[in-house]
Amino acid sequence: MINTIPEVKRKFNVEEIRSDFPILKRLVNEKPLVYLDNAATSQKPQQVIDALNQYYTFDNANIHRGLYFLSELATDQYETARLKVKEFINALSASEIIFVRGATEAINLVASTLCRARIFKNGDEVIISHMEHHANIVPWQLISDRKQINLKVIPITDDGDLDLDAFKSMINEKTKLVSVVHISNTLGTINPVKKIIEIAHSCGIPVLIDGAQSVPHLKVDVQELDADFFVFSGHKVFGPTGIGVLYGKTEYLEMMPPYQGGGSMIRTVTFEKTTFDDLPGKFEAGTPNIAGAIGLGSAIDYLCQFDRNGLTLYEDSLLKYATEQLLQIDGLRIIGNAKEKASVISFVIDGIHPYDIGTIIDTDGIAIRTGHHCTQPIMQRYNLPATARASFSFYNTKEEIDKLVKGLLKVKKIFA
Ligand SMILES: Cc1ncc(COP(=O)(O)O)c(C=O)c1O
Repeated sequence: MINTIPEVKRKFNVEEIRSDFPILKRLVNEKPLVYLDNAATSQKPQQVIDALNQYYTFDNANIHRGLYFLSELATDQYETARLKVKEFINALSASEIIFVRGATEAINLVASTLCRARIFKNGDEVIISHMEHHANIVPWQLISDRKQINLKVIPITDDGDLDLDAFKSMINEKTKLVSVVHISNTLGTINPVKKIIEIAHSCGIPVLIDGAQSVPHLKVDVQELDADFFVFSGHKVFGPTGIGVLYGKTEYLEMMPPYQGGGSMIRTVTFEKTTFDDLPGKFEAGTPNIAGAIGLGSAIDYLCQFDRNGLTLYEDSLLKYATEQLLQIDGLRIIGNAKEKASVISFVIDGIHPYDIGTIIDTDGIAIRTGHHCTQPIMQRYNLPATARASFSFYNTKEEIDKLVKGLLKVKKIFA
């Protein structure tokens, strides 16, 4: 019997939630940890840690091959995790869920296999945006070894919104795919992906959505969006590292050749010819990250105890509060003021390098990200070497934002 996502909703209480995440109790530099780097990776609730522990302590075996108890148990848990992902993003079928290492591998898989499927011809175009993570830029450049694919880049406004008119004018008969980020990990912009998909589909063009930052913040429904591909990473959504998801519509996944060859993805092998497994096996060569998938399933269970919209509203309140408080700091400028934003704030302070900001507040146990955030084109767009970035999850509090502000005032004092 398969257990899918629980129906009953747990009441939101931030203190109770914090106690589910053991790392939030630790000290850093003798101060309570203030973890504000959730866009890089999220922390893990005890139940995810327990699921990994349980698997390795009691249930470890390889999957899809053994006819003995443990192998069947591990297979059942792995496939149950796939079903949870299917429900979580509302895919039509579990066979449209491919387990991969993360968003990066998912995009590489799509780029490489579409290229080998001869869907791309020399001179074809892929439209991305100026706010893509490197994971949605470099894979398209790599396939240029095999096919000469031109990247077209949707510009962004000074506030960090996509220029949709420019997007519409870029589409032409050479456009083969649109691949855009749902939420920018640097600017926090929530892109109107449903609209983008509608526009692309009206011209018969498939769309890939990079959901690495949206899945932790928003309830995602791939059928409602009508996304052709949707990718995300387990570690940003309270699950383990090394596991992620490629969702693809069956019609595309059927058309694409395997990404890697090896065990599990085959039906028959001779030295002359190999026939491939059905979906999703065709794309899961070798022993997969079994524990990772089980841990991701547990993270989905954890998240789905709550009303997701309630979590989003709470994060929105943190975003609003943090924006107001940070803007009180003289010389602080927020990079990314889009109309629709998730709880990610990039900022710079006049005359102080972001690395200095990050290093100094770390002495007070405050973890933020500094650098280009794997979005160098955004830094070029705003003519900046780097930014500091605070990104909030539903286990963060206004008190933690106050500590961040206090830390930044201390930095300013040091540099005064
Ligand atoms: C928007 C976006 N896309 C893709 C990625 C790549 O994710 P991963 O490194 O987990 O593959 C990230 C990671 O920061 C991201 O923020």
